[in-house]
Amino acid sequence: MTKRVVSGMRPTGKLHLGHLVGALRNWAELQAQYDCFYFAADWHALTTDYADTSRVQASVIDNVIDWIAAGVDPEKATIFVQSLVPEHAELHLLLSMMIPIPWLERVPTYKEQQEQLTEKDLTTYGFLGYPLLQTADVIIYDAHFVPVGEDQVAHLELSREVVRRVHHMHGQIFVEPQAILTNFPRLPGLDNRKMSKSYQNTIDLSDSAEAVEQKVRQMYTDPKRVRADIPGTVEGNPVFVYHDAFNPDRDEVEDLKTRYREGRVGDVEVKKKLAKAVNATLEPLRERRAALEAHPERVREIIHEGSRKARTIAVETMQRVREALHLAY
Ligand code: TRP
Repeated sequence: MTKRVVSGMRPTGKLHLGHLVGALRNWAELQAQYDCFYFAADWHALTTDYADTSRVQASVIDNVIDWIAAGVDPEKATIFVQSLVPEHAELHLLLSMMIPIPWLERVPTYKEQQEQLTEKDLTTYGFLGYPLLQTADVIIYDAHFVPVGEDQVAHLELSREVVRRVHHMHGQIFVEPQAILTNFPRLPGLDNRKMSKSYQNTIDLSDSAEAVEQKVRQMYTDPKRVRADIPGTVEGNPVFVYHDAFNPDRDEVEDLKTRYREGRVGDVEVKKKLAKAVNATLEPLRERRAALEAHPERVREIIHEGSRKARTIAVETMQRVREALHLAY
């Protein structure tokens, strides 16, 4: 039987190039080989956006459009919305009965996020339970593999421990999920800080060609190079990290790197060629995005159909869980 892959994304705003290389390309590749389930984790979005929930729904639609534009195929993968499969919440509740609070307090993202997002009160019950809800998200589908970024590995580790504990108490019920790491190194932001919409240093998948050109023109490069004839550093220079990620013309990239190191190329040329490569990457996405935006009812249909399919599986799993816990009346 084909093994199952499950992954989710929090719908908290527009998707950017980091999502494309860090997740979506991988999602699209996996769908050829596995039974893939990809979902918008709208309840997880509420762990931080609970005071103003007004943008979550629009982000779900917008993100799903980007997923499909980036190559996730609703004919091959199941695309759904977490809250349309309420069994995730039932399983989360049952797990919460069995998992000691310190297990959740120990997850590194718990303290880190509380320290970083100081403008939000993250001392909530829901935020503490974030990785437990994430566990329910994947084990309810007997997922073997969960494609995630580096930052999510600790969550998957917790999921495996949770499964073992439940099995120890109630017998074999679930599959122990395993993380699959995307091999692509993290893409820096335009200013060479961590890419994040709160820093406004992203190129969004929905940006126009003009917006891309303008953003690339303003990109951070080697600050030593105040003139084009000063030798520059290629390694770790975001302009070249992006060339490596998006410019398929390897000869052009190697030529630019050589001349950059020798002080024989201006930033303007490097950036012009980069903007061209990024736009060539995004052009097919723009076309597919426009087609979907013209038919929002089609996107809704995809989401509802996918959620129905996901729910059939989730309901079956919950029957098994209820039986194991002597709750099957
Ligand atoms: N926590 C994930 C993130 O922030 C999103 C997520 C929620 C998820 N549930 C999941 C990812 C289940 C994989 C599997 O990126």
